Amino acid sequence: MKTFKNKVALITGAASGMGRYLAINLAKEGADVVICDVDESGLKETEKLIKAYNVGSSSLLLDVRDKKEVEELPKKIIENHGKIDLVFNNAGVVIPTGFLNMNEEDWNWCNDINYNSIINFSRSFLPHLMKEEGTALINTSSIFGIITTPNNTVYHASKFAVRGFTESLAKEMEGSNTQIHCVYPGHIGTNIAVNAKFGDQIVKGESKEGILDLNGEPVKDIKGNQVSEKEAGIRFRDAGMDPDKAAKIILKGIKKNKKRIFVGIDAKLMEISQRIFPNNYWRMMPITLLFGLLLSPHRLKKAFQLTRKKKD
Ligand SMILES: NC(=O)c1ccc[n+]([C@@H]2O[C@H](COP(=O)([O-])OP(=O)(O)OC[C@H]3O[C@@H](n4cnc5c(N)ncnc54)[C@H](O)[C@@H]3O)[C@@H](O)[C@H]2O)c1
Repeated sequence: MKTFKNKVALITGAASGMGRYLAINLAKEGADVVICDVDESGLKETEKLIKAYNVGSSSLLLDVRDKKEVEELPKKIIENHGKIDLVFNNAGVVIPTGFLNMNEEDWNWCNDINYNSIINFSRSFLPHLMKEEGTALINTSSIFGIITTPNNTVYHASKFAVRGFTESLAKEMEGSNTQIHCVYPGHIGTNIAVNAKFGDQIVKGESKEGILDLNGEPVKDIKGNQVSEKEAGIRFRDAGMDPDKAAKIILKGIKKNKKRIFVGIDAKLMEISQRIFPNNYWRMMPITLLFGLLLSPHRLKKAFQLTRKKKD
């Protein structure tokens, strides 16, 4: 695909982060955009930002878990915009909680948004995408769909599932009109951790005022104050790659028809270390992250500002 001009793109989770910047950059390149999310005010803000580019757009308050709505969506978009060319399954959530502390309802909530919705969107949209030349289905997994970390089981399970589904589908669809892409972002500076659902117990012990590190110790900032869950989310956001840059990398990957699109040097290095050290990549993580930081000086500077001070 050489250009997004005159394409019609649907982006889920477009009220924030990468979804918002995918919509803006697609509009900048002359595509009609259909944005959807559960966050009404964020959606309005994205809508406002898109208006500057004078392209066709629609905004839908839609929960990606709503199977019936998703089944009816292709017809609605085709009625409004004439066709559908690109579907970005981008909406996602995270629950950084130990497996035994998570109830079934939360487990299903995360899987339904991160994975099951992608199956429903793919089933609804693929028959329409396949009819047109130069179309694409883009599913967002994560570098956490390739490597694993503790206290994140449901996120990993959902993102590994997205990867398995999408990479198999890509093989199945070879030679068709539709490109299939799986996106593997590393650390991107978005609201995903600010809006995370935390369990009562993150690693060990109660965590009413703040979060605990991997040793079960309270995470403290440089002044020795305990870091709250919200604060940790803000730090995560401030230290990550600019989501606008991430969106541009994703769009470039689609133009180059890359089946696997890695976003960020950290994602690339972690993928390589997983292949070279399949049993020990977890121990290599600090070195991998350090290399990643050394290769992007502005993030190194931010990391120094955000140094976490451990308990004496
Ligand atoms: N930020 C990162 O470091 C990172 C890393 C790897 C993968 N990802 C993935 O990238 C994707 C985009 O996330 P982001 O980082 O931009 O986060 P974000 O929180 O900024 O954006 C996610 C959007 O999804 C929306 N959403 C959540 N539940 C929804 C639902 N039921 N229906 C419709 N919309 C819903 C949210 O309201 C939000 O606007 C996600 O799939 C995420 O898992 C993010």
